[in-house]
Amino acid sequence: MSDHGFAKGEAMKQVTLTIDGRQVEAPTTATVLQAAKSAGIYIPALCHDERIKPFGACRVCMVEVTKGKRTRLVASCCYPVEEGIVVKTDTEKVKKIRKLVAELLWPAALPLALELGVTSSRFSAPRGECSLCGLCVRYCDEVKKQNAVYFEGRGIDRELAFVPGVKVDCRACRECFDLCTGGWIMNEASKAFE
Ligand code: SF4
Ligand code: FES
Repeated sequence: MSDHGFAKGEAMKQVTLTIDGRQVEAPTTATVLQAAKSAGIYIPALCHDERIKPFGACRVCMVEVTKGKRTRLVASCCYPVEEGIVVKTDTEKVKKIRKLVAELLWPAALPLALELGVTSSRFSAPRGECSLCGLCVRYCDEVKKQNAVYFEGRGIDRELAFVPGVKVDCRACRECFDLCTGGWIMNEASKAFE
């Protein structure tokens, strides 16, 4: 991957889109998040890492995309660039939804919440230390091929867990610890592998 996340050696075909009033060129294989990054336009992103496939879990990277007469909110980490689309990364709607997400995740992903100006949550059942970003699960699966962690349960009961009897010792690997947006994995690994 290059610095801006475009895969090297992929089709050289380019599209031109508008992001925050600027004309940006990007390969047809790029996402809106990658195109913005290549142009130095910052979009906050929580569950995204260039080494692993986009997941679209957190919705922090939402932007407004206008295509023809239709405008909608999309997750920029999963949304492919297209010729002529108009992207706005910082509208009132976008800011509102990002703040709502930060409140729903509270207090996991605290640095991001503070960056977005969120210092508390209106919701009565704030989350623990795991934001359910899935970075550890996907990194362990796609990069390490170990599958030491997984999501257990569904809906509001969904939580992260270590795969029972897993051979790898996460304390020795630690590679996903720096990715963890909530802080759960390092704390729980020290208990799970005692
Ligand atoms: S443990 Fe950390 S990396 Fe894994 S899903 Fe939770 S917040 Fe994300
Ligand atoms: S960074 Fe795009 S949905 Fe999480």
